[in-house]
Amino acid sequence: MAKKQAARQAKKPYRIAVIGGDGTGPEVVREGLKVLAAAAEVGKFRYETQEFDFSGARYLARGGDPAKPNIPVVTDEELAALKTFDAIYLGAVGDPNVAPGILEKGLLLRLRFELDQYINLRPVKLYPGVKCPLADKGPEDIDFVIVRENTEGLYTGMGGCQYKGTPHETATQIMCNTRHGVERCIRYAFDLCRKRGDKKLLTLVHKTNVLTFVGDLWFRTFNEVGQEYSDITRDYNHVDACCMWMVKNPEYYDTIVTGNMFGDIITDLGAMIQGGMGIAAGGNINPDGLSMFEPIGGSAPKYTGKNVINPLAAIGALAMLLKELGEEAAGDRVEAAIAYVTARKLKSLAAGKMGYTTTEVGDLVAEAVLKGLKA
Ligand code: IPM
Ligand code: MN
Repeated sequence: MAKKQAARQAKKPYRIAVIGGDGTGPEVVREGLKVLAAAAEVGKFRYETQEFDFSGARYLARGGDPAKPNIPVVTDEELAALKTFDAIYLGAVGDPNVAPGILEKGLLLRLRFELDQYINLRPVKLYPGVKCPLADKGPEDIDFVIVRENTEGLYTGMGGCQYKGTPHETATQIMCNTRHGVERCIRYAFDLCRKRGDKKLLTLVHKTNVLTFVGDLWFRTFNEVGQEYSDITRDYNHVDACCMWMVKNPEYYDTIVTGNMFGDIITDLGAMIQGGMGIAAGGNINPDGLSMFEPIGGSAPKYTGKNVINPLAAIGALAMLLKELGEEAAGDRVEAAIAYVTARKLKSLAAGKMGYTTTEVGDLVAEAVLKGLKA
């Protein structure tokens, strides 16, 4: 953050690395950049972008193959270059022609880990005019945020396999959490909860009744750190119960904090109750360093190149990027413009059913940003 503010004070342009990625990623990012141009014009800030092609197609063109681990998805030099930017804007990762796990590990997880983006911030917000699959729930009922730990848990790659292919095959995948990693995530969640509004309710989500080691580390840390936040009500849900409550009483939640895998799962559920993958945005955040923002849906190969995918999730991710850079007002303006478009324009959030093309939706939001339109 300090670095970003310094850049702002010196009135240097923000430097934003753009990774379109796979499938519909480049299409939705293009619309986000349109909106960025509008936001910069109104907000009177300058920025530069540089594109990085870290796609599955490039990996394959370079001879990438699971049997040849020496061909990286992102090279060390490219990673070093990325580190000089103020923010990263990512489209989508996933190519059906590349074996599962290669791009995910080689790009997305590598950047999350190496840039120490230890928070995955995923707001669950039902915009006005959006059809919610939950009966009788409206925008006032669905407005909470999930803080997912993003560098530990089941994602560290610890574990292994022995006696593969034999009847004695043994496989482990270790849920590894550190006090340091859990504590910094929990502190971030308490701080965020304090900033968010009046509810001041922070819910820890885990599975302490079964995961008695890792769950206990989260639970103890949560209660210890919570002593410093007497204005915030501490609450705990098992992850299975949380899924139930997210569907039955989503209005209950304010801020949720949880581990990496549980966070992965409940944020897909969250995306559905806010109207689908077309609108769900997220940020991989290093509060003291370089953060990366992305729509949380996948690369949608079947819609690629058809100009039908919904770019609003990518545009929402851009709003989050702006706020993280310190351009709060610009981020709010983009969110208001999204709400205007969902409330007044789109027929549906689903690909091909919006009543507009991808590029037209981008135009609508950019125009709403320029004019300062709201729902
Ligand atoms: C997400 C995705 C990733 C994850 C995959 C693609 C590795 O599902 O960002 O939620 O599991 O974190
Ligand atoms: Mn996921």
